[in-house]
Amino acid sequence: MLGNLKSQPADKILALMTKFKEDPRIQKVDLGVGVYKNAEGVTPVMRAVKAAERRLVEEQTSKSYVGLPGDPAFADAMIDLVLGDSVQRDRIAAIATPGGTGAVRQAFELVKMANPDARVFVSNPTWPNHVSILKFLGIPTIEYRYFDTESRAVDFEGMLEDLADAKAGDVVLLHGCCHNPTGANLNITQWQSVIDLINEKGLIAMVDIAYQGFGNGLDEDAEATRLVASSVKEVLIAASCSKNFGVYRERTGLLMAISDDAELTPIVQQNLNYLNRQNYSFPPDHGARVVTMILTDPELRADWAAELEEIRLGMLELRQQLADELQKLSGSDRFGFIAEHRGMFSQIGTTPDKVEQLRADNGIYMVGDSRMNIAGLNKDTVPLLAKAIVDAGI
Ligand code: LMR
Repeated sequence: MLGNLKSQPADKILALMTKFKEDPRIQKVDLGVGVYKNAEGVTPVMRAVKAAERRLVEEQTSKSYVGLPGDPAFADAMIDLVLGDSVQRDRIAAIATPGGTGAVRQAFELVKMANPDARVFVSNPTWPNHVSILKFLGIPTIEYRYFDTESRAVDFEGMLEDLADAKAGDVVLLHGCCHNPTGANLNITQWQSVIDLINEKGLIAMVDIAYQGFGNGLDEDAEATRLVASSVKEVLIAASCSKNFGVYRERTGLLMAISDDAELTPIVQQNLNYLNRQNYSFPPDHGARVVTMILTDPELRADWAAELEEIRLGMLELRQQLADELQKLSGSDRFGFIAEHRGMFSQIGTTPDKVEQLRADNGIYMVGDSRMNIAGLNKDTVPLLAKAIVDAGI
């Protein structure tokens, strides 16, 4: 049996992580995987996370099973963080999941169970694992135009034109903020137009929000998701705590499913619980408990929000420094988009060959689609990157 297995395509982002580790050069810069790193290149445990973990060690009296949807207090705290009071609580069913990826996977499985004919519309480009999971599940996937490679901004007209092909019951996958991989985002007026189209055509909205707090601020980054949640009849939201709480390896995420009518919530909840049971029984609890403790303790929450804000502002400074440096070296404004983009990533919009050249000649690692992780830079490596980009004729 095992001899029948075929090799699977390597995940581009994870393959790059390995390649970087194996590179013996001392002067190398990792702009690959979406993990925050400070100026020393370290991914720190956030202060509030450490404090909550200490408290957990002291106070936790059992590690027995919690429940199929995870701790309800985690769902409540995360719903409050992501949605505020934009949606009536009794319209929302939710399950804890292993990270944001777990939430995305469960959401797609729910779509398949509820409507086997549904197609999922994804941005071109999107996080490669969206497409990979959809393919694995055999869900028809259609790309909509999203990124204008000339202006490096959203191709909004193209997006609306392509979404106009969707049929009632199809799902539109949107990035709540900090679009991955491009860094280019819709403004709120554009979000409203997308919502209008979704409602006109009877589509289902799905929002992946994995970088809340990395763009314009915690509430600002949730604004679009809240608008979708409060204006579309049926919405799925996959939220990740990996980045904004820095709990990557703890696998902490939440899937929310919002029904039009609160009467549907129990059956939706029951299906979500069922999906957890089929896939892994109980979702991981450690990270979820830490996050809950932080969000419900005013002191821990304030400290967490302050540290996240430092991280966000640090990334904005790096963006500005890089845009300025490129302006100086290239004598042109064509890299101004780097300061305009938001979140951890910017797609600089060059060919895989040039990306490979940057790696071979300068030890600079970015994903083949020219996505770079801004948090992989520091004040000293920004000038090196800028020079390498200009030298490569990008
Ligand atoms: C990324 O896009 O680099 C992150 O979301 C990490 C991952 O799992 O791909």
